[in-house]
Amino acid sequence: MTFPYINFVQSACLVSAVLQSSVAYVPLCKEFLDLSEMETNLNCIACHLQERNREKTEDISPLHTCIFLGGINLTLLDNSMSAQQFLKQKATSNSASGNEDAFYVADLGDIMQKHCQFMKELPRVKPFYAVKCNSTREVLQTLAYLGTGFACCSTAELDMVLRMGVPATDIVYANPCKQISHIRYAAEHGVRRMTFDCESELFKIAASYPQAEMILQIVADNRDSWHSLSGKCGVHINECENLLEKAKSLNIQVFGVSFHTGSGCKNTHSFRKAIEDARKAFDIGKKLGYKMRILDIGGGFPGDTEFLPTFEKFAEVINKSLDQCFSCNEDVEIIAEPGRYYVSSAFTAALNIVTKKEVTKKDGEGRRTLSYILNDGTFGSFLLNYLQIEEKNLKPFVGKDFDTALELFPSILWGPTCASEDEILNNVDLPELEMGDWIFFPNMGAYTISMNSNFNAFAAPKVYFVLTKEKSL
Ligand SMILES: Cc1ncc(COP(=O)(O)O)c(C=O)c1O
Repeated sequence: MTFPYINFVQSACLVSAVLQSSVAYVPLCKEFLDLSEMETNLNCIACHLQERNREKTEDISPLHTCIFLGGINLTLLDNSMSAQQFLKQKATSNSASGNEDAFYVADLGDIMQKHCQFMKELPRVKPFYAVKCNSTREVLQTLAYLGTGFACCSTAELDMVLRMGVPATDIVYANPCKQISHIRYAAEHGVRRMTFDCESELFKIAASYPQAEMILQIVADNRDSWHSLSGKCGVHINECENLLEKAKSLNIQVFGVSFHTGSGCKNTHSFRKAIEDARKAFDIGKKLGYKMRILDIGGGFPGDTEFLPTFEKFAEVINKSLDQCFSCNEDVEIIAEPGRYYVSSAFTAALNIVTKKEVTKKDGEGRRTLSYILNDGTFGSFLLNYLQIEEKNLKPFVGKDFDTALELFPSILWGPTCASEDEILNNVDLPELEMGDWIFFPNMGAYTISMNSNFNAFAAPKVYFVLTKEKSL
């Protein structure tokens, strides 16, 4: 299986097209589209783009093309600059113009590359991106164009995706406990696939949307994940039969089974066990006369650079388990709900030092400790980091060049509010920094922007979108 080759300018055009609401939704990698058809599309888009470029307003850098489309700036980076170099350049130019606001740089090329990797490594699985993870319009539109489906949890999320022209059949309403008005909204818009894990959900469906295609969510082992979801969602495999019998008695259509191994899953074995349990649930459904034909293997795939086990390792185990439990001859559609996999590594956050303090108490080794107040924190992009108590996986790096022989000091990084919970990291070794310096945080695309609380009304950081040549399709 080969991917259609798209060169840099074409993929730039592609993304530009993605970002315009006027351009129709044309899935790209879904069925590995016919290349000639795609080239025709891209040529049209290229002409359109040339026209639109006349409206170009702001040049971030004279070196790079900045396209202004529908209110969105997208900077195309050729081989001479990586996203990280752009980030540094942006920090310097923002400081020079008196703008110290925290910001992000997001590489849409990284997202495209992830998609290709997903399609290559998990050929039997169609991804339905989990919107909750990062719902910036540019991300959603890029993924819609690439042909992913979407996993939504509320009417607002359904709305965002439907407005982009994504067909209702490419959406799964992946919240097992739904407000009745939200179920009605899904019904009005033809979104049929939805998850459930208890009786009371079945009563709501029977009363307000009997045409829904229900997917039974079972519990998976979440113990080895950064964020467990199994405490709240999913029915235990031993209780499936009762629940499916109840569904049958209410004339509810059950079409499949789903699970979630927890976000930031660290154990490939969790997928193997969950797929085996899903097989059991399928068989129970079939025994009760249901046509079981959807298996949803949820999210949990790694998205950070350097995460172990790697995505390839997960894919190897998943493919093997799928082949053992769900033969290719069985008419089963296999989908997944990846969130952090797609976006985590594409986003890097840049925070500015607002205040520097020396902590009077020395550390255990008698070293000076420095404390820095930054302009984004727990109530902004770092809420999940705060909740993720035992495992802080943040790896910040300094925005300016410094002599690596310089002494490093234990440093505490705080967010901008007065709350003492607003601590980003409490013991990270850094060279001595000054007010106005930048600190960068990589792997910040997942559950960051989407969890911004607006506490103290600190504005959410602006995102600069780039498309790097090295990473684009
Ligand atoms: C129902 C559901 N699907 C998918 C996801 C995405 O998970 P991840 O970002 O780990 O892939 C989540 C995350 O909480 C979820 O609750």
